[in-house]
Amino acid sequence: MKTAYYNIGQSVPRIGIAERLRGEPVFSADLEFGDMLVLKVLRSSRAHAKLVGVDCRPALKVPGVVRIFTAYDVPGKNLMGIINKDQPLLATGKVRWVGEPIALVAAESRAAAESALEKINVRYEDLPALFSPAAALQPGAPKIHDKGNLLFTRKIKKGDVEQAFQRCAVVVEKTYHTPWIEHSYLEPDAGAGYVDEDGTLVIFASTQNPHYDHKEVCSLLGLEGHQVRIVQAATGGGFGSKLDLNMQGFIGLALHHLKRPAKMGYSREEAFVATAKRHPLEMTIKTGADDNGKLLAMQAEIIGDTGAYGSYGIAVASRAAVHATGPYEIENVQVESRCVYTNNPFCGAMRGFGTPQIAIAHECQMDLLAEKLGMDPFEFRWMNAVRVGSETATGQQLTASVGIHDCLEALRPYYEQARASWCAGESDPFKKRGVGLGCMWYGIGNTGVQNPSTAKIKMDLGGTVTLYTGCADIGQGSTTILAQIAAEVLGIRPEEIRLFVADTHCTTNAGATSASRQTYISGNAVKQAAEKLAEVLLTEAVNKLRRPKAALVMEDGFIKDGSGKKGRIAFSRLAQSANQKGIPLKWKGYFDPQTVPLDPETGQGAPYATYAFAGQLALIRVDTLTGEVSVEKIIAAHDVGKAIHPENVKGQICGGVAMGIGFALMEEFVPGQTVSMKDYHIPTCADVPRIEPIIVESPEPTGPFGAKGVGEPALIPTAPAILNALADALGQRIYNLPASLERVLAASIKGGHFGPREVKHV
Ligand code: MOS
Repeated sequence: MKTAYYNIGQSVPRIGIAERLRGEPVFSADLEFGDMLVLKVLRSSRAHAKLVGVDCRPALKVPGVVRIFTAYDVPGKNLMGIINKDQPLLATGKVRWVGEPIALVAAESRAAAESALEKINVRYEDLPALFSPAAALQPGAPKIHDKGNLLFTRKIKKGDVEQAFQRCAVVVEKTYHTPWIEHSYLEPDAGAGYVDEDGTLVIFASTQNPHYDHKEVCSLLGLEGHQVRIVQAATGGGFGSKLDLNMQGFIGLALHHLKRPAKMGYSREEAFVATAKRHPLEMTIKTGADDNGKLLAMQAEIIGDTGAYGSYGIAVASRAAVHATGPYEIENVQVESRCVYTNNPFCGAMRGFGTPQIAIAHECQMDLLAEKLGMDPFEFRWMNAVRVGSETATGQQLTASVGIHDCLEALRPYYEQARASWCAGESDPFKKRGVGLGCMWYGIGNTGVQNPSTAKIKMDLGGTVTLYTGCADIGQGSTTILAQIAAEVLGIRPEEIRLFVADTHCTTNAGATSASRQTYISGNAVKQAAEKLAEVLLTEAVNKLRRPKAALVMEDGFIKDGSGKKGRIAFSRLAQSANQKGIPLKWKGYFDPQTVPLDPETGQGAPYATYAFAGQLALIRVDTLTGEVSVEKIIAAHDVGKAIHPENVKGQICGGVAMGIGFALMEEFVPGQTVSMKDYHIPTCADVPRIEPIIVESPEPTGPFGAKGVGEPALIPTAPAILNALADALGQRIYNLPASLERVLAASIKGGHFGPREVKHV
């Protein structure tokens, strides 16, 4: 592997940052196409009910209302879903959750649309509603979907857990709960569109997956591919929720029927009601080790509430199961992970797909076992962590880029120092200090299913390179990363590349911006396309410079002999000479990670081609009078394979840690109660401490320049580290998230730390 890079590993200026800083109208809600209609959705007020009638006549009389659509107006297949198609664009026959779209109003103004919503009369006939997986799994429970309420089960069976638990010196069995979580991206869902001269529906959207949107809108409207074009507008965060079709279908429906520009934007309140949540999981996990501290067995039962629709529920159930061991070697494993329909809000993808939840369970188990064994939790993790040659619970042998020990070693000095001085350093009698560790592993890309990416690159006769990628940059910086990769191969600067990004009219499918997959998968596709182009230029240069390919280097738009002799030739000349011979200057790249699908009965297989690893250390203070937890410092060591853009990697880590703090301490969405940000607390800058990101590079041989991914891993270890620090501070453990003021105070009292009691001793 080449180690001296031209621009890999350099934090180059982010592509498109100038437009963003100038406040140019790049987001969907700011787009204006003239004479625009405003779209609004009428949503169900019932959790489970037959739709007996929808009377739009009074609403149609509202001045400015142009049309009201119901399911009967959907010309194609009225069903959506990337994994299982179970969700209608507009309800037909019945509604399954409070918030389900029933009718779409198109009006001249927002006020007219809103007033029409109030005048649509819906007649419901209530059906018994189910609000927990337990209720939905009862024999004889009403069916939310015709096929029943159990959406999916992922089983993993390896070795013999029964027999192995008998050999364990220590066994810990606990149940952990995590709540619904709202993505809370800065930009609520929005889109806008118009009909082109040739009749193409052009839809700009805040999205993580334009090519999926394209396919789905065509299917909903019964149109051919060329009749719909999806362009990703600048996207202010997604975190998984913008993987679903949120407003694209509604805009498509209006454009198709009315042929007038239209726009649609959710308010924060509507984004709360309308979009997917993180799955609440109930995780019962039993883990055992021998008296030397070697983990022998793990058994887990996981139940996820996917709400009214599947969305990414199957992916979440599957990923949570596969990751349930944590980054540790365990020979005997049995997992059953189920995903259940209820009449709660639908749950889908959110940063980590079930891994942030299961990491709570496996990391708290590690601390509990270490305590029982009388071992240091750091050493206990170090001893059991996977290495090259280890076999995972799915029977996959890890062959390279297993950086968990490197991450732990990076944390070791901080850990030792914290152990020696942090907790003892407290002088306030009403405060307790704690130190906690959290580790994780994360498979890059989709779980045991194909998830290829493609890219196109071309050079014009003037030597300018154009890169076409379908990869949606939702703020994480993939456009810059992909430009860096192409530029590196061709020996130019990223800013010299012309870019076409995430526009189904001119870019090919790069798959979803999801599963921390774009640097690895699209990065490889871009690299391959660039290498094919480079090969053409090098071949021409061999003829001209009369030097073998191996001796040639590409630099600053020229090819020259590596020794510096023999002069240099400009790309433009090489491009012209290739073109004269009819050699193409336009190339495609393709990459699909090598995986083996999981066996449905045993879960054996190789679900991911590579895994990211991380360890984080949390230093906290707890106010025993109020239950307030102050996270004082997080040290976050992440094995990313290779940091293509180190500042960007650090940015991902810091953002992830902030999200992890919210998950640990304050975020909880309660269906029917949480209406907006006023009821849903996310960390502010006052809650986010000094974060020390540490980049660990254990190169992945199949990754572009050794890179893997970091987007989701950044978040995963934070909450477990904080929970373990809380247990360290209070001597009492919290098993249900969030560790709210009430729960922390209760734990504090139970641990005998309640302030006033200590006042006596002061
Ligand atoms: Mo993510 S949950 O892959 O956007």
